[in-house]
Amino acid sequence: LRVAVLFGGQSSEHDVSIMSARNVIRAIDAGTYEVVPILIDRAGRWLLVEAEGGVLGEPVVYEGTEVCLLPGAKGRLLALEGDGAREIPAVDVLFPVLHGLYGEDGSIQGLAQMVGIPLVGCGILGSANAIDKDIAKRLLREAGLPVARSVTLTRGEKPDFEAIVSALGSPVFVKPTRQGSSVGVSKAHDAGEFESALADAFRHDRKVLVEEFVRAREIECAVLEQPDGTLFVSVPGEIATAATHGFYSYDAKYIDQDGAVITIPADIPAETAETLRRMAADGFRALGCEGLARVDFFVRPDESVVINEINTMPGFTNISMYPKAMGASGISYQELVGRLIEHGLA
Ligand code: DAL
Ligand code: MG
Repeated sequence: LRVAVLFGGQSSEHDVSIMSARNVIRAIDAGTYEVVPILIDRAGRWLLVEAEGGVLGEPVVYEGTEVCLLPGAKGRLLALEGDGAREIPAVDVLFPVLHGLYGEDGSIQGLAQMVGIPLVGCGILGSANAIDKDIAKRLLREAGLPVARSVTLTRGEKPDFEAIVSALGSPVFVKPTRQGSSVGVSKAHDAGEFESALADAFRHDRKVLVEEFVRAREIECAVLEQPDGTLFVSVPGEIATAATHGFYSYDAKYIDQDGAVITIPADIPAETAETLRRMAADGFRALGCEGLARVDFFVRPDESVVINEINTMPGFTNISMYPKAMGASGISYQELVGRLIEHGLA
């Protein structure tokens, strides 16, 4: 069976996706599957690239045959060459190792549905629900799950910082609603910071979330849907961001080698761990997720909990929690990737 691993992509997490895909491609069992690596460049072109022996070139080279899927034709692929196109062997399943817009938001999921090809992970609705932090919070709240207090703003709205502070306290977090890896996210302590935080967030989205700052530990659970539809939830893992970073920002995640420390299982009471695992499953269901997701929590000193967000194509980079938490729960990287592909094909 041929697995098309899509990576790169048009979102601000293009580079993160390449880091994730490197690991996913290496973990695909070459005895069972043939990997077809497709690099989506920043302009959206699909390039068929090489992964000799399951290893992507370092750095990846943006060269390769441009390919496209034929609508309504399952996984038939056309290679575009000069003025013409020629059909090349079809693929059986898409594995979109793509983060953020166009990858995790329902777009590629919609394309897969139009083309009629199976896809690993969440479908259109679950992806679209989870990518939008505003919509996700409404659905989680509606399911009785705790979320942080927030105000949603659309472009053009400029609330008074004092009014925000009286509703949410200070400092506040300002986040574009549909981004990942903390791109465009900042913490604001005063009116000046708030103004620039809003300007920055609105550069990434026309809808922005202003959220209360929750003084808490960051703890995450990995969820994997089993063949019978039940959910396997990993032990919780903790991310402790280095004090030099104000929060678990893009830099703390991927640039600074010492930006954060991951501990799995998180050192928390068994009861809290159980609560998180139950809420992770409930949150997954509330958003209509499929296949996999990572559910991120804040746990306060008094052990009260809020769900921060749900990621439907969580990172698979070397520092990423999803595969590590699964590994600590008895599912190796290779087995995990195999199970995800099987789920996609089912
Ligand atoms: N958005 C990044 C990839 C994550 O959630 O891990
Ligand atoms: Mg995210």
